[in-house]
Amino acid sequence: MASLYGSITVLAALFQLTIHLNSCLAARTNLRKEANTQFIKTSCSGTVYPDLCITTLSSYASEIQASPKLLASTALSVTLNSTRSASKTMIKRSKSQGMKPREAEALSDCMEELRDSVYELQRSVGEMDQPGGKNFGLQMNDIETWVSAALTDEHTCMDGFSGKAMNGNVKTSVRSQIVKVAHMTSNALALVNSYAAAIQNP
Ligand SMILES: *[C@@H]1O[C@H](CO)[C@@H](O)[C@H](O)[C@H]1NC(C)=O
Repeated sequence: MASLYGSITVLAALFQLTIHLNSCLAARTNLRKEANTQFIKTSCSGTVYPDLCITTLSSYASEIQASPKLLASTALSVTLNSTRSASKTMIKRSKSQGMKPREAEALSDCMEELRDSVYELQRSVGEMDQPGGKNFGLQMNDIETWVSAALTDEHTCMDGFSGKAMNGNVKTSVRSQIVKVAHMTSNALALVNSYAAAIQNP
């Protein structure tokens, strides 16, 4: 009877220890998660659209951790993917019936600009993934040039949809998607700039 009681006591102690260890582990994981999210929040505060920056990047916090390089390359990759899907939407839209000639023309111009934008962002993502070798400054310079070009194309596309002559569904749905993509591009450019600056002026 005594030994049974002893076993139960030991088991109970083990059980408590396990609970304690688990909660320590969970607390540590939470701390790390918080630190990663905090890094994204701090970095995003230097962009023009910090809220969008945080919402689009925080789901990658565990991969990014506290790496300015991974933050910049993830921002570029997320932006590329959104630009691609905006481009697809636009192509689908352009096949719909009943558009005014003015709308059809703006849409067609926009499709071209978005295609260029996708291409420029693709080059940037590719360049970011290149291992060192090429001069870092030149590499960053190229990326900054291409991302800026992508942003200009998106603005040109947006402007085509802001005329007073245009209203209705096409304008509203297309424009809001492009605005979001342009804001994401602006944020990605800021994150690339600050990564480049951090390496060049440590
Ligand atoms: C972008 O899309 C590609 C291909 O679908 C995917 O492999 C990649 O993980 C996406 N990027 C991000 C940051 O989600």
